[in-house]
Amino acid sequence: SPDERVSSLLSQMTLEEKVGQLNQSNGISGQATGNTKNLVADSALYQLISKGQIGSILNEVDRAIVNELQRVAVQESRLGIPLIFGRDVIHGFRTIFPIPLGQAATWNPELVTAACRTAAREARSKGIQWTFAPMVDISRDPRWGRIAESFGEDPYLASALSIASVEGYQGDDLSNSDSLAACVKHFAGYGAAEGGRDYNTTMISPSAMRNVYLPPFKAAVDAGVATLMCGFHDVNGIPMSVNKYWLNDVLRGEWDFRGFVVSDWDSIFETIEHGVSKDEQTAALAAARAGVNMEMNSPCYRNHLAELVSNGQLSESTLDDLVKPILRIKFRLGLFDQPYSEPNSERLLLTKNNLELAQKVARQSIILLKNEDGTLPIKKSQIKELAVIGPLADSKRDQLGTWIPDGKEADSQTPLAAIRATAKLHGTEVLFVPGLEDDFDRSTERFAEAVTVAERADLVILIVGERANISGEARSRAILDLPGAQNELISAISEVGKPLVLIVQAGRPLTIGKQVEQVNALLYSLHAGTMAGPALADLLWGVESPSGKTPVTFPKSVGQVPLYYNHVNSGRPPRPYEYEKDKTVDDSINVELGYNSNYIDVGPYPQFPFGFGLSYTAFSYGEVELSAAKLRDGETLAVRAPVTNSGEVAADEIVQLYIRDLVGSLTRPVLELKGFRRVRLAPGETSIVEFALPVSDLAFYNNDEERLIEPGEFEIFVGGSSLAPKVGKIEIVK
Ligand code: IFM
Repeated sequence: SPDERVSSLLSQMTLEEKVGQLNQSNGISGQATGNTKNLVADSALYQLISKGQIGSILNEVDRAIVNELQRVAVQESRLGIPLIFGRDVIHGFRTIFPIPLGQAATWNPELVTAACRTAAREARSKGIQWTFAPMVDISRDPRWGRIAESFGEDPYLASALSIASVEGYQGDDLSNSDSLAACVKHFAGYGAAEGGRDYNTTMISPSAMRNVYLPPFKAAVDAGVATLMCGFHDVNGIPMSVNKYWLNDVLRGEWDFRGFVVSDWDSIFETIEHGVSKDEQTAALAAARAGVNMEMNSPCYRNHLAELVSNGQLSESTLDDLVKPILRIKFRLGLFDQPYSEPNSERLLLTKNNLELAQKVARQSIILLKNEDGTLPIKKSQIKELAVIGPLADSKRDQLGTWIPDGKEADSQTPLAAIRATAKLHGTEVLFVPGLEDDFDRSTERFAEAVTVAERADLVILIVGERANISGEARSRAILDLPGAQNELISAISEVGKPLVLIVQAGRPLTIGKQVEQVNALLYSLHAGTMAGPALADLLWGVESPSGKTPVTFPKSVGQVPLYYNHVNSGRPPRPYEYEKDKTVDDSINVELGYNSNYIDVGPYPQFPFGFGLSYTAFSYGEVELSAAKLRDGETLAVRAPVTNSGEVAADEIVQLYIRDLVGSLTRPVLELKGFRRVRLAPGETSIVEFALPVSDLAFYNNDEERLIEPGEFEIFVGGSSLAPKVGKIEIVK
């Protein structure tokens, strides 16, 4: 068994070799050119690997170099322990899928699994065995650039997609040639960074940690995730990289996690900067005691662990406990039996199937946020000339989004190219002018040309947004408006008065309230990847109806952030009659609102609520049946909701189940998602969507970290967004 192999190997290892397994170093490609063997032999890594002082390499995807580094480990180091190669395969390897926030907008776990499986197959063919994904940090703050890499604001949706990703990357068996070890990150609460500033401190109560931030991590652990990365941040004053309570007591003790923990880049070393370690040695000791198995990049373990064991500050059995899970995962990956990557078949990258899947995921990820008078889909017979305007219409790089180290912009099929190809089939002429050089351009010089084209056309498609590299890591924004002069461009085109479709491609929700009013239809594409263009064209011409739903709340104004649907009520919630004026974005101040939790300028409402998205058809909900009025712990409520496609085209609806716990020993959220299902309905078709809601799913943690199922009343809501109507009430009895 792997455990026996691990013990036998461990018994042969020296102290230095044990410490060696805990070190992860950056790769060397790109640092020099020439013959692979010489490049490896001349590198500093060669010495370390041949002495068994490195356990893992990240960021090395040149297959020849990967195999040569591995050869050194396997043939030249004393015990021949193979290296594990890690990489950020975040939303695809070469075939790029929508950013994770876009994947979350599909509300389709099966599709997310398929996307991760495809990414795994592509990456493993290049010698990668481990991806630093999924990132499951709950994010309630679109200022934080890494919201793009997240599954959004909701613990239930994020947990479902966390499981879906782990299953997709890892498959049934890590040793398969199309599997990667997954790494759930960044444990935990990293998305709660104060002010949305990346890497910043977090203040998270024990109940919020347990109820909001931990569920997607627990879901990944229960799904068998191989590894976990701790975050850069501190929680309530203790940096996660040295946080013994969460990493050791909870993750290992309570959850029985048997994989290994990797630090984030330099994050053990950075505990010195945080001001909790005085030097590298104390940082190494604290991280090792907390249970961080592998150090990414910085050298605290490499320089100090052996000495800490020799002088008795760290016991050898603690060191052994850090090494064992790393060896176990290497055995499970089959690296001792097949350390090298297969001869690379480029044919596994960017295949027809992969691209079709990417197009499908992209299509389901795009959200229709407005469609006045059925502006969309395009009515082929009425549109002879179509104007395409905007700096993001033909930007191959930007549609791919953040974190695509192995994606290539040349592979991108842009909206402009896809619109041209589709328009040609229908005999429609496409007139294109960008209007602005790029999304940062502030010059209005080229607006006249854009206006002329809009005047000639029967319909205008205006494609704007955020370039790829202003969301993602270290890309926090204090202003969430469209950058550059894009808002002015929208105003200028809207004044022409032609039917106007706005497409926004972005890495986060942007504040676009005024722009929404100026256009007839709006499609929101969270950087949808290689096939963003064909997916958008499919939706524009109605080949498929839009079905994405917001995975996060869209604020009206950045000043409302954090704004999320599952907030608590407060003692003074705003009352609807007090913000009638709040129907439009209006910065005039109203002091007549009463003494409630509100904004006197923009009000408390979001621009678009969580779970929202329109379709080309209409769905109506019939009377929802609840199987019981009173339930006890151990029982399950069955919820049966008849949903009818009452429109004229086949389409998918995301049916959502929410609850509200009316009275608790702790303030409870006004709404909590507890189930969702994507259903496809033909025109006129009705389907009964069934949810099973076990009473155990109504449990929550208090600040003593006790899990409680409290007797009392719960309201049930079912519908197509978080504005779902109340359909009944149940009571939990002892
Ligand atoms: O995986 C990433 C992490 O999310 C941020 N810091 C660097 C790591 C490796 O590239």
